[in-house]
Amino acid sequence: MIHNASWRAPSNIALVKYWGKYGLQLPRNPSLSFTLSACYTDMQVAVEHMPVTPGVSVLYEGQPRPSFEPKIRLFFNLISDRFPWLKDSMVSINSRNTFPHGAGIASSASAMCALALCLLEIDGQISGHKNLLDDDWLRAASEIARIGSGSASRSVFPIAAIWGETVASDNSSDAYAIPWGPQLAEVYKDYRDTILIVSASEKSVSSTAGHQLMEQLPYADIRYSQARDHLIQLCRIMEKEGDEMGFAAIVEAEALQLHALMMSGPQPFILMEPATLAIIRKVWSYRRDTGIPVCFTLDAGPNVHLLYPSRHQPAVMAWVQDELVGYCSEGRFIEDRVGSGPEKLA
Ligand code: DP6
Repeated sequence: MIHNASWRAPSNIALVKYWGKYGLQLPRNPSLSFTLSACYTDMQVAVEHMPVTPGVSVLYEGQPRPSFEPKIRLFFNLISDRFPWLKDSMVSINSRNTFPHGAGIASSASAMCALALCLLEIDGQISGHKNLLDDDWLRAASEIARIGSGSASRSVFPIAAIWGETVASDNSSDAYAIPWGPQLAEVYKDYRDTILIVSASEKSVSSTAGHQLMEQLPYADIRYSQARDHLIQLCRIMEKEGDEMGFAAIVEAEALQLHALMMSGPQPFILMEPATLAIIRKVWSYRRDTGIPVCFTLDAGPNVHLLYPSRHQPAVMAWVQDELVGYCSEGRFIEDRVGSGPEKLA
């Protein structure tokens, strides 16, 4: 018998960054993200009981991708206590992304979130316990996704999520993310994220390697405590409308700190490109000149996420076309926005 599940899971963009981990992918500091809408992974998973020849096969956009298999095998080993049937099954995965793989748009977040949702659904089919989409089920999905990739834990929830223990919420945990959409003022539930693709090529340093470098940094503890403070401040700001400039200041400080950390280790690396820096300067002068609270953030890559309230979309997009598209690789950008979370596909 073959069990099938199919899910669409979104990417997310961290406002307060997860950078530094310990144990089984537990975060050194809490993080907060917007769940995105246009950047997502669609995944189909088929599980067949095959005790003699168990294994994993991965298709990406219909083509075999053996290079993805070691990471997935490792993930399966880590979660085999929870899903014992994995050990004697053939698991076939077919996925596609709506955005370039490895370009600093967290593809591992959407892919690992989709995989966790598929596995949990199939586990329900096998065990007969189907509590699809209730709170405990989503929490379990977030915990499994976290073991695949830390940031994936946050993609389980619509609008916004917090992963990691923080005094901002009694329910927060290092083991899984919690939904944070209901706590936000309306303006933040409708934020835009225009992603300027400065480069669509593979990252030169994986996030996993980047997290490890934190262990050697003398500033690490100060960074973790600052991230904790930023998260608390941001939660307060985002409860109500009116301080989008304060939001911008913290979000940009987080992005710049993330990249400063990368440049500060014993083997420093720079993921920003000259165009990244040029765009940052343009954002600052545009914000100063217009009063529109557009701000930037960066993931572990050169691409720039422009975040702003939806009501400013016409003005910001006109500016992007006039002044920023020239910095984008082949003029590419993605018009994304805060989204409604994963979707079960038929
Ligand atoms: C810069 O979640 O990709 O995007 O847990 O090793 O898979 P692993 O790392 P990953 O790290 C994401 C780092 C970041 C910040 C963030 O999303 O919080």
